[in-house]
Amino acid sequence: MSERLRRAVCPGSYDPVTLGHLDVVVRAAALYDEVVVAVLHNPAKQGTFTVPERVAMVEAAVAAAGVATGVRVEAFADRLLVDVCRDVGAQVVVKGVRAGGDVAYELPMALMNRHLTGVETVFLPGEPSLGHVSSSLVKEVVRYGGDVTGLVPEPVRGALEERLRG
Ligand code: PNS
Repeated sequence: MSERLRRAVCPGSYDPVTLGHLDVVVRAAALYDEVVVAVLHNPAKQGTFTVPERVAMVEAAVAAAGVATGVRVEAFADRLLVDVCRDVGAQVVVKGVRAGGDVAYELPMALMNRHLTGVETVFLPGEPSLGHVSSSLVKEVVRYGGDVTGLVPEPVRGALEERLRG
């Protein structure tokens, strides 16, 4: 039997990480030997948070979730996901899918990635209680004064309020 490590990539913009993202990363960590959380970004596009801020928020959230080993967070600029997978030695991409449009959005990307290098994508059903949570929606809610407690890690909620409410 092969002793090869089973390594998965959980890709995303993570601008910022939500509890929906975190749920998928923690579940992926239970399924694979190693998980690389890949913070993918386009330097030409300004996000709400800088890339080092995003990485630090994911690292803190993973540590607070009690996942001590097997998960690392890395940033990649202007890269194809398939090249990231090849560089880190991952055989699999893990993505969460919420009810609604996620499958329609994710399926062509999964098929394109398999077309490019053969890398497979494993979809995990998103936790139903977080089915309405996305980085863009929580930012909009915070910007206009709403409460996102229970939707993002607490330090992220504080950072969002500081950044978006000035
Ligand atoms: O959190 P997001 O914005 O939904 O994540 C999308 C992301 C970053 C995973 C996706 O845009 C991606 O894989 N980008 C890397 C560039 C790439 O490989 N594009 C072709 C995908 S078929």
